Amino acid sequence: MKQTISFVLNGESVQVEIEPHLTLLQLIREKLGLTGTKEGCGMGECGACTVLVDGRAINSCLFPAMEVEGRTVTTIEGLADSQGDLHPIQKAFIENGGVQCGFCTPGMVLSAKALLDENPSPTEEEIRNSISGNLCRCTGYVQIVQAIKAASGQ
Ligand code: FES
Ligand code: FES
Repeated sequence: MKQTISFVLNGESVQVEIEPHLTLLQLIREKLGLTGTKEGCGMGECGACTVLVDGRAINSCLFPAMEVEGRTVTTIEGLADSQGDLHPIQKAFIENGGVQCGFCTPGMVLSAKALLDENPSPTEEEIRNSISGNLCRCTGYVQIVQAIKAASGQ
């Protein structure tokens, strides 16, 4: 039986009827049409599906959609400002060559955002830890770490 949940998605209140077994990834991509969040492994191992729930980076492929009731969800579509200007972390990824195929990028950027919101001047080790659940097959991570450092002003 479908149930109605209410939450805040990228700053907007959303009320949606869902099947109780739906994952947050299915809700975001299939019901709400926000395809910036990617599906990779579907098993909690690649981080392509990372979004923020109450500011914390989670794998949306494993997260029950029902659990966002009353909470705040941020996807990659929510990072640009109201003029459409990219978030400083997104700009830093572009400027530092941290984007190649781009498949891992939305999840990487959101993991970086969760880190920098909590720890604005992370060490390289803290940066590497924060993206340890996000796999990238293209960049070798050096440019990504550099991008997150640059976004933190280092
Ligand atoms: S698709 Fe969710 S961790 Fe890989
Ligand atoms: S840029 Fe291709 S997987 Fe990371």
